[in-house]
Amino acid sequence: MEFLLLVSLSSVLALSLIFLLFKHTLSSGPKLPPGSFGWPILGETVEFLFGNPDKFVGDRMRKYSSTVFKTKILGEKVAVFCGPAGNKFIFSNEQKLVTEWRPHSMQKLMRSYEANSPPPPSANPNESKTKVLRQPGFLKPEALCRFMEQMDSTAQQHMKLHWEGQSKVLVFPLSKNFTLSLASKFFLGLNEHERITRLANEFDDVSLGLHSIPWKFPGTIFYNASRGAVAIRKALLSVIREKKEALASGARSQDILTYMVAAADPATGRMMPETEIADKMMGLLTAGYSTVAIAITFLMKFVGERPDIYEKILAEQLAIKKSKNPGETLAWEDIQKMKYSWNVTSEVLRLTPPLQGTFREAMTDITYEGYTIPKGWKIYWTVSSTNNDPTYFPNPATFDPTRYEEGNAALPPYTYVPFGGGPRLCPGKEYARLVVLTFLHNMVNRFKWELVDPKEKIIVDMMPTPSKGLPVRLIPHSA
Ligand SMILES: *[C@@H]1O[C@H](CO)[C@@H](O)[C@H](O)[C@H]1NC(C)=O
Ligand SMILES: *[C@@H]1O[C@H](CO)[C@@H](O)[C@H](O)[C@H]1NC(C)=O
Ligand SMILES: *[C@@H]1O[C@H](CO)[C@@H](O)[C@H](O)[C@H]1NC(C)=O
Ligand SMILES: *[C@@H]1O[C@H](CO)[C@@H](O)[C@H](O)[C@H]1NC(C)=O
Repeated sequence: MEFLLLVSLSSVLALSLIFLLFKHTLSSGPKLPPGSFGWPILGETVEFLFGNPDKFVGDRMRKYSSTVFKTKILGEKVAVFCGPAGNKFIFSNEQKLVTEWRPHSMQKLMRSYEANSPPPPSANPNESKTKVLRQPGFLKPEALCRFMEQMDSTAQQHMKLHWEGQSKVLVFPLSKNFTLSLASKFFLGLNEHERITRLANEFDDVSLGLHSIPWKFPGTIFYNASRGAVAIRKALLSVIREKKEALASGARSQDILTYMVAAADPATGRMMPETEIADKMMGLLTAGYSTVAIAITFLMKFVGERPDIYEKILAEQLAIKKSKNPGETLAWEDIQKMKYSWNVTSEVLRLTPPLQGTFREAMTDITYEGYTIPKGWKIYWTVSSTNNDPTYFPNPATFDPTRYEEGNAALPPYTYVPFGGGPRLCPGKEYARLVVLTFLHNMVNRFKWELVDPKEKIIVDMMPTPSKGLPVRLIPHSA
C-alpha cells in the first residue's frame, strides 16, 4: 500500500516536473505585448468598431502599456502601436518591417475583380495597389491647381442650389452631396454628377462596411455594403465604357479615370480590366468624399459654437475675397493665405478625426520595446493614441486653434498625424485641404450660422457623425 502511494506520489512529482519544464520552454518563447485577445472568434472587434475609439485605445494604454498592446480585431491578431514613438516606428519602416494591409471587409468590397482575374504572378509585391495613384501626380499641386477653378465654381453652384434662400439646413447630408459631386468631377471627369450623387446612400453603406465583420446576410452592415458596392460598380462600369468610346473618338481629358482607361501597366504591359478600374475608382471616391464631408460638418459645428472664431475666419476670408475681381474664382495662391482658417480646420481634425488609423502587416518578426510582434501579425496605428494627450495638447478637450500658432511650444514630430505619415502619408491630404477651405470661403462670405440643437448627440464609432445630421440656422449677411 505504502509502496503504491510512493509510486503514485513520485509519478505526480515527475509529471509536475515535466509540466514545469514544458511550461518553462513555452514561456521562453517570444514575449508578446501585453493585452487581451478578448472573446473567442470575435476578439475585441465589437468594442473596437462600436466604442469610442479614444476610449478603446486610452483604456488599453492605461491598463496594459502606453507603448504597444495586443488585441484581436476583425479576425486578426493585432499589435496597436501607441504614442509618437509608435507612429514614428511604423511610418519609418514601410516596406522594411511593415507593409500595407487592409481589413478583410475592405478587401472583399474593393477587390471583387481579384476573384475573376488574379494578379499576374510576376507582379512585384512592392508595387502596392495604390501606387498607380501616387505616381502619375494626379493629386500633386499642378493637377490640383488646374482643378481649382472648377472646385470653386462647383462650390458656388452648390451654395445657390442648396443653401441660399434657406433658413434651416442639414449640414451633413449637404456636405456629402458637395464632396461627392466634386469627387466625381475630379476623379471621373463627370459633369453630370447626378449619376454618381444619386448613389450617395450606397456610398455611405460602403464606407460603413469598410471596417466591419464580413458576414453577408440580410441585416448586417457588410450585406448592405456589398449591395451598395454592386450598384456603384454597375454605374461606374457604364461611365468607364463611355470614357473608352470618347477616347476612341479622340476626346481628351485629364481625370484619373481617363488615365486608367488609357494606360497600360508599365511593368506588365497589361491594360487594366474594367472591373479592376471600377473597384479602384469606387475606393477613391469613397475615400475622397466621406472623410472630407465629415471634416466640413464638424468645422461647421465647432465654428457654429464659437462666434469669436467665426469672426476671425470671416476677416481672413473677406480680405481674400476683396483682393479678387468680381466673378474671379479662387486660385491656389488664395488657399495659401487661409492660414488661420486652416489652423481651425486642424483643430477640428484633432478633436474629431474623420479617419481613425490604418493597418499594416509585420513582414518579419519585429522586436519593439522589448516585445516580439510575430511575422504576419497585423499592426495598427491610430490618431487616438496622441491627439488627446495633455502632454502634447494642453487641455485637450478645449477647442483652441491658437495651439498651432508660432510662439507656442512646437508640437513634437509624430504627435499630430490626422493624415498618417511617412511614405504612406494620405495622398489626398492636399485635395482635402483645398475642398474644405474652398467650402469655408464660400460659406462665411455668405452666412453666419447657429446650431439648432447645441446638445445634438455625436456618434463616435469608426467615423464621427452627428446623430441628426447637424441642423443649422443660416443668417445671410445681407439680412
Ligand atoms: C522590395 O523592397 C525592398 C526594400 O525596399 C527590397 O529589399 C526588395 O528587394 C524589394 N522586392 C522586390 C521584389 O523588388
Ligand atoms: C445632390 O444634389 C443634386 C443636385 O445638385 C441632386 O440631384 C441629388 O439628388 C442630391 N443627392 C443627394 C443624395 O441628396
Ligand atoms: C441596411 O439597409 C437597410 C435599408 O436601406 C436599412 O433599413 C438597415 O438599417 C441597414 N442595416 C444596417 C445594419 O445598416
Ligand atoms: C497657423 O499655424 C501655423 C503652424 O502650423 C503657424 O505657423 C501660424 O502662425 C498659425 N497662423 C495663424 C494665423 O494662426
